[in-house]
Amino acid sequence: MAVRIALAGKGGTGKTTTAAFLVRFLVETGRGPVLAVDADPNANLNELLGLTVEITLGEIKDELRTRVPESMARGDYMEMRVHEALVEAQGYDLLVMGQPEGPGCYCAAHSFLSQALQKLEKSYAYMVVDNEAGMEHLSRLNMTEIDHLLVVSDASSRGVLTAARIAALVKPLRLNVGHKWLLVNRAPEPVPEALDKYVREMCSREGLKLLAYLPESPELFELEIHQKPIWDLSPDNTFLKKAYNAFEKLLAA
Ligand SMILES: Nc1ncnc2c1ncn2[C@@H]1O[C@H](COP(=O)(O)OP(=O)(O)OP(=O)(O)O)[C@@H](O)[C@H]1O
Ligand SMILES: [Mg+2]
Repeated sequence: MAVRIALAGKGGTGKTTTAAFLVRFLVETGRGPVLAVDADPNANLNELLGLTVEITLGEIKDELRTRVPESMARGDYMEMRVHEALVEAQGYDLLVMGQPEGPGCYCAAHSFLSQALQKLEKSYAYMVVDNEAGMEHLSRLNMTEIDHLLVVSDASSRGVLTAARIAALVKPLRLNVGHKWLLVNRAPEPVPEALDKYVREMCSREGLKLLAYLPESPELFELEIHQKPIWDLSPDNTFLKKAYNAFEKLLAA
């Protein structure tokens, strides 16, 4: 199985940005192949990576109700379509979950999908999963074994408290997490002492390990407003260098 790294954190903290740079880091350091999974219903990881998505896994699940050829088993059909839904790129592939089903869920589709994903995962060294805040997709898909959960927070005490609460969801969602990390994004430099003290307190209370503080990056802001992919950010960029150091630390754990 691939090493699974899942991102979580409240809205707008930098989960997708971190996920995208983590994919770039893994590819550039020769640790691929990487499977990037966008499990946020409001998917935009593909944009940061500069990829176009044709079909989501949610759409494929809907097909299972109506479109499966008579001669084909549903599990085989799902496997075939999941392969077709893969967006293939240099050193990594992307899958997009899409919207969860509305009322009248065809629940068998879930288990077909989760089986197809487990099979697929075997071809990758790493899987990076970008989530919505609550991580529901992970438990719904039986993706309960997570090697690294990376909770992203903004640099405020309330933000850090929310991150700690999100980390605590691991239990009710019955996720089995190897390492729980906290990443504080857009932190002022130097990091205010009071913030650092609070961060460390929260970490020890929730069994989180402090991964790093990442700075606010004007260059990242520039990329964003020009809708450029994260591959365009220079390797000399401070945010990128600090993020890469953080990822090395994570993988060394
Ligand atoms: N360190 C940073 N410096 C500058 N801009 C940043 C930084 N981190 C994130 N951003 C910007 O903040 C915005 C939100 O980031 P991102 O989309 O990664 O957050 P998210 O947690 O995935 O949000 P959502 O909850 O909506 O999925 C983006 O416009 C991104 O470019
Ligand atoms: Mg996001």
